[in-house]
Amino acid sequence: MYEFIPVIMREAASIMLSAHDTHFSMISKEGQANFVTRYDVAVEDFLTEKIIEKLPDAVVIGEESDDNHTELISTRLCIIMDPIDGTTNFIHDYRYSAISVGICDRGQMVYGAVLDPYADRLYHAERGGGAYVLDYRTGKEKKLQVSDRALCDSLVGFGTSPYRRDELGKVTFETAYQLFMTCRDVRRSGSAALDLCNIATGALDVFFEYSLLPWDYAAASIIIKEAGGIISCFDGSDIKFEGTLSVIAGNKLAHRQLIESKILK
Ligand code: IPD
Ligand code: CA
Ligand code: CA
Repeated sequence: MYEFIPVIMREAASIMLSAHDTHFSMISKEGQANFVTRYDVAVEDFLTEKIIEKLPDAVVIGEESDDNHTELISTRLCIIMDPIDGTTNFIHDYRYSAISVGICDRGQMVYGAVLDPYADRLYHAERGGGAYVLDYRTGKEKKLQVSDRALCDSLVGFGTSPYRRDELGKVTFETAYQLFMTCRDVRRSGSAALDLCNIATGALDVFFEYSLLPWDYAAASIIIKEAGGIISCFDGSDIKFEGTLSVIAGNKLAHRQLIESKILK
């Protein structure tokens, strides 16, 4: 039903990838914000225009939009999008960022797509239809299934809540330290959307971040659920799509053990 969305996302990816041709190293620190904003806005504008042509009644909730009406999420069809998730990676030419588009129908996610334009790989799920990863280079598609590892054997992904580091930096790294000492290892990638897709593939077993916004996790949330995993607030309650949220995700076993461990503050 939403097959047109990845087609539009791949066109948007070429806008994003074209930035890497314009010599990032020549951009001054002061110029970086404008440079990045230019691409964030260009990608979001393109996605909005093209998706709205197909879903004219939908409300757009996008990271770059100034007047997001999140109060409409519970009553309307909404497109929740992050044009570039992994901005710092993007600025540093680290090549680990994603385009994330989710469709939420009256408060319930019905579709999610996360495109990694560097690997040309699409993670996607439609409600009730399972989750998949499509490798455009080979044309091969694989059904996703979360891992079954216990917390002690887990590879733990986490985000640093960089925009609230004064308030959350210390607790984030204390939590990561405790998990590092009791689990297999920890990873911080720079893209929450891709971290969450790595929960769906089973590469990561649990993930935490003290502060995320709806566009960081909306699309990936349905991909995780359709892959048999769980995404929730720190206390295990359902995620919402308004304001900032502390988010955990994982396979059901490691997720439950993470909550029971009382490691999260
Ligand atoms: C950020 C990334 C990062 C996470 C931050 C997000 P942005 O999104 O997902 O991994 O740690 O909390 O804000 O700003 O690159 O779109
Ligand atoms: Ca983001
Ligand atoms: Ca972003």
